[in-house]
Amino acid sequence: MSHLDVSLYESKHSFVWKYAADLIELLSPKEGEGILDLGCGTGHLTHQIAASGATVVGIDSDPAMIAEARKNYPKLRFEVGDGENFRFTEPFDAVYSNAAIHWMTEPGRVVACIWRSLKPGGRLVAEFGGKGNVQAIIAAIYSAIETLLCAPNQEHHPWYFPSVGEYSALLEDHGFRVTYAALFDRLTPLESGEEGLHHWIEMFGSDFLIEVPAEKRSDVIRLVENRLRPDLYREGTWFADYKRIRVVAVKE
Ligand code: BEZ
Repeated sequence: MSHLDVSLYESKHSFVWKYAADLIELLSPKEGEGILDLGCGTGHLTHQIAASGATVVGIDSDPAMIAEARKNYPKLRFEVGDGENFRFTEPFDAVYSNAAIHWMTEPGRVVACIWRSLKPGGRLVAEFGGKGNVQAIIAAIYSAIETLLCAPNQEHHPWYFPSVGEYSALLEDHGFRVTYAALFDRLTPLESGEEGLHHWIEMFGSDFLIEVPAEKRSDVIRLVENRLRPDLYREGTWFADYKRIRVVAVKE
């Protein structure tokens, strides 16, 4: 995952964890279970899972996120860990992951690590960006760069947004039995009113602006806003065109 600004993440992007309550219901954590929260960010969902009495470990590749998680929840265990290369000595009953797997662009390595870290019969419960996620925002960024500067290099895509078929096949190839998989739209309101989309692009979309000179970035974002306003702005709030993939899979 690229490194995000932790204080902005905490103050202006709380939707990242606020939408995950029903994913925890799907996980249905039980007292005494061992659960890994993969890509735990600043630990808010790790804390909610721990309230069930499960023993939870949160890992995230960003040391600043882990430092904040430890500050937020000093009694819980958080470790810096790479989602594409992690290993624990004690296997878990479940791996949970919200809004993180799309940052890991070698998905086969991620699934292999998840498999290795589960007990036989253990489950993966995950949600992340799926096929078509934020496609309106990405297309508007490319077209604004093209209008104001030059044809954009479209190879800098920093995310993995698979279809249900693609991700289910990947899980099955690694030996999982997929018991649930869905891809659905979730138009997601952004915080900060009029500045919501601007903040989202600065926070999450900076890879798309790498080739844009610093003094031109605001112009690009303003043009993106103008083009997306008819579809993604309603009564003072911007929305991101999120599409989520949600999966439950069991290690046979
Ligand atoms: C998402 O949660 O879908 C997402 C967040 C940041 C960047 C891209 C996607």
